[in-house]
Amino acid sequence: MNIILFGPPGAGKGTQAEIISGKMNIPTISTGVIIRAAIKNGTKRGLAARSAIDSGALVSDDIVIGIIKDRLAEPDCKKGFILDGYPRTIPQAEALYSLGIKIDAVLSLEVSEETIIKRMSSRRTCAACGATYHTVFNPSSDNKTCDKCGTELSMRADDAPGVVKNRLDTYHRETEPLKDYYTEKGILRTIIGQDKIEDTTALVWAALGI
Ligand code: AP5
Ligand code: MG
Repeated sequence: MNIILFGPPGAGKGTQAEIISGKMNIPTISTGVIIRAAIKNGTKRGLAARSAIDSGALVSDDIVIGIIKDRLAEPDCKKGFILDGYPRTIPQAEALYSLGIKIDAVLSLEVSEETIIKRMSSRRTCAACGATYHTVFNPSSDNKTCDKCGTELSMRADDAPGVVKNRLDTYHRETEPLKDYYTEKGILRTIIGQDKIEDTTALVWAALGI
């Protein structure tokens, strides 16, 4: 199954992607995770993306489309994949369409801005493996280090309140119009994000017919 997880920053895309990936045994492709790794490694793409990600703007379509084309060409994507945070603009959606890969479902996670701000202020991430936690709703076993690889957890630089506001504005202006794009294609399924992660996951399985 080829799935897109769509929604505003902090809606829970990464959290749900990890759960679906584990159960369906298909890879998650998160453009945010790939770009942060490129920045950390000082690659050409990372250097070009840095100022956009730090300010809460979108990284240029050229860079992101290049990342996705390379990643989807890898053999592990043949059995299915989950796109987390791609596409975010109409040109990105059209670039995906032009690859001729059928998308089975676009799951749109809907969460209020008030909830998003609460979630982001206490999110902790693992810079080494990309795992995501929340100090209250989804803590790691010691609330300090990653359960998967033991790395010390940290806050994402773009979770600072001013940057979160810019990311939400960017989402409404540039990304939300994609809901109409995928509604017209008949594959958009809306999921109302719940207070408990597992309750949202139950709605995800129902939307996928699993
Ligand atoms: P990206 O990394 O994709 O960030 P985002 O879309 O802003 O989304 P987040 O990762 O912040 O949130 P999420 O929806 O994954 O929520 P999470 O599961 O962590 O992108 C970052 C930047 O990269 C962009 O701003 C842009 O610059 C650039 N970029 C990326 N893709 C791009 C593209 N295609 N084009 C151009 N630029 C691009 O959950 C949030 C928190 O809530 C966690 O702490 C979690 O534990 C908790 N939580 C989750 N679900 C629940 C629940 N049900 N109840 C309680 N807590 C919950
Ligand atoms: Mg994420």
